Amino acid sequence: MAYADASAASIRYASAMTTSSAPEILILYYSRGGSVAQLARQIARGVEEAGGLARLRTVPPVAPVTQTAASPVPEEGAPFVAKQDLAECAGLALGSPTRFGNMAAPLKHFIDTLGAEWASGTLVGKPAAVFTSTSTQHGGQESTLLSMMIPLLHHGMVLIGIPFTESALNTTQTGGTPYGASHVAGSDDQRPLSDDEKSLARALGRRLADTTRKLAP
Ligand SMILES: Cc1cc2nc3c(=O)[nH]c(=O)nc-3n(C[C@H](O)[C@H](O)[C@H](O)COP(=O)(O)O)c2cc1C
Repeated sequence: MAYADASAASIRYASAMTTSSAPEILILYYSRGGSVAQLARQIARGVEEAGGLARLRTVPPVAPVTQTAASPVPEEGAPFVAKQDLAECAGLALGSPTRFGNMAAPLKHFIDTLGAEWASGTLVGKPAAVFTSTSTQHGGQESTLLSMMIPLLHHGMVLIGIPFTESALNTTQTGGTPYGASHVAGSDDQRPLSDDEKSLARALGRRLADTTRKLAP
């Protein structure tokens, strides 16, 4: 899927310093077909609308057999995440396609390497939010979002969702949930984000940046 709806201002792949007035939010996601990447860019817009800095990062794919190591830098899109990104961020948005009602293996694989960060409390007290995309309306968005929260709770993160005071949560006919942002991509994965899905993803980004600023030490 094309990166068509991205405005240059909404994509910030470079890192920047974190300050209490401009909290830096790590938006870490896996996306094979581009739907989760679209949500990531809307969340980045929301972060920046709230005066935060968005750092977009992705994870490499995994394979059931050993293959040539992936390039350290993707040819296009967000760079691969480094452990340092977790230490430097003040908040985290975590995104994955739904795979059988759960997060995709590449993201889980990365999370499973975070033993040292868990032990040292790298993420303790930092706000976090989750987002996903499915092919189908009832294909497991909420189970994916809720299960993505579990490792974040183990890391001591402070989870936030989307309140029903966001009017789009009452009107959406596709994605968008109180548990996090989401998109229904359709059976061919070609459906663009609806206005409600975009609005809710941006609202989540704003809320994440606002909460991060309020909780900043
Ligand atoms: C192995 C596999 C399992 C999937 N499981 C589900 C599922 O449980 N429910 C669903 O609605 N879609 C499922 N999908 C479809 C993806 O969630 C959907 O295509 C998503 O929009 C892909 O996001 P992406 O474009 O960011 O990669 C699955 C796709 C694959 C490849």
